[in-house]
Amino acid sequence: MALAPPGLRSRAQSAPDGAPAHVAIIMDGNGRWAKSRGLPRSLGHRAGVAALKRTVEAAPDFGIGRMTVFGFSTENWRRPAGEVSELMRLMKNYVQSDLARLEKAGVRVRIIGSREGLTPDILSIIEHAETHTAGNDRFHLQVAFNYGARPDIVNAAQRFAARVKAGLAEPEDLTEDSFQSYLSTADSPAPDLIIRTSGEQRLSNFMLWEAAYAEFVFQDVLWPDYGRELLKAAVEEFRTRERRYGGADVNDALAAG
Ligand code: IPE
Ligand code: IPE
Ligand code: MG
Repeated sequence: MALAPPGLRSRAQSAPDGAPAHVAIIMDGNGRWAKSRGLPRSLGHRAGVAALKRTVEAAPDFGIGRMTVFGFSTENWRRPAGEVSELMRLMKNYVQSDLARLEKAGVRVRIIGSREGLTPDILSIIEHAETHTAGNDRFHLQVAFNYGARPDIVNAAQRFAARVKAGLAEPEDLTEDSFQSYLSTADSPAPDLIIRTSGEQRLSNFMLWEAAYAEFVFQDVLWPDYGRELLKAAVEEFRTRERRYGGADVNDALAAG
């Protein structure tokens, strides 16, 4: 596997055995799953939470050390109010009901995205989950909630600009690495593998900056049907990829002298 150039090295590291150290998932297809069963979308979302639990539990067995899951996008506010409040309720329940188990399993939980528009009860649950698991290091679970990559990038640019205005930084201090430190993924290496379910093949405003050298696997299954075996298949597909980071294939480079 090729070595990432210096700027990317710290942010894109595969586990030693070629497993993706950081896997990000766009969990899509809850609505279609429910529709195909004649059920309300809310039940699709509930089944989606069960799939999330199965997937997080299986991840460490495949050498994955960090997982980012897209749970609610800044664009998802466009959905009917009832669906939005169901998604908020499920997020609250998931964190509350699973926190003790996650904590015991050595999982560090982080919620990435904007805090704007979230109600005080969700904000306090997020804060509680983050502080209670802050000392854990065995597995990192990042939940992208009220997350949009463009607002995250704009927010980062505004925060840097404010430092310049205050005389604390010069414009030329901004580098790829320092810019990264203003994003909500600041402390996280970049995803090695981005999975999207449901058959859609787009990013939908997810991790635009962080995805620079990610591998993509699109799986034509609806998220509530996801779990261990499908994650394993995605990891196996990842292992077949050769990551060149703009360099030449090792054998071709030797042949070219
Ligand atoms: C993914 O499932 C969950 C969220 C976006 C919150 P969807 O609700 O998007 O399901 P589809 O795409 O309508 O099937
Ligand atoms: C992306 O799925 C957001 C999440 C999975 C949380 P969407 O279903 O919202 O994306 P689009 O609308 O199909 O692009
Ligand atoms: Mg969708």
